[in-house]
Amino acid sequence: MNTVRDLLKTSGYSARAIKYYENNFNVGRIENPDAHFTYTGPCGDSLEIFLKISDVITDAKFQAIGCVGTFIFGSALTKIIIRKKVKDCENFDEIDLLKHVGEVPEQKKHCAHLVALTFKKTIEQYKE
Ligand code: FES
Repeated sequence: MNTVRDLLKTSGYSARAIKYYENNFNVGRIENPDAHFTYTGPCGDSLEIFLKISDVITDAKFQAIGCVGTFIFGSALTKIIIRKKVKDCENFDEIDLLKHVGEVPEQKKHCAHLVALTFKKTIEQYKE
């Protein structure tokens, strides 16, 4: 019988992408976040990002009503940005996420855009 891991591997997800999906790093919410934004993409998937920020981003969590891709890229995003300065994340985009995660099926690449865009809007909200 195929495991979820086998199915993801056969579908074209990298080992790193599968690790993010299996571990669900940083899924959850932060009470009293310094920045928070919810965005629903054209596909109908929604992502909510919470950040705690002092000098650097000290914590990042997300919740999603979405596909495998939202969880893979959401977990990857939070792992990447924690301990970074906000100004060092301002140009972060889906290309960075795709490079970090490695291979994903072509039809899932747009999920990186949803995550990167929601993060960008979360940072904009913080700066306002
Ligand atoms: Fe909508 Fe993945 S299908 S973000």
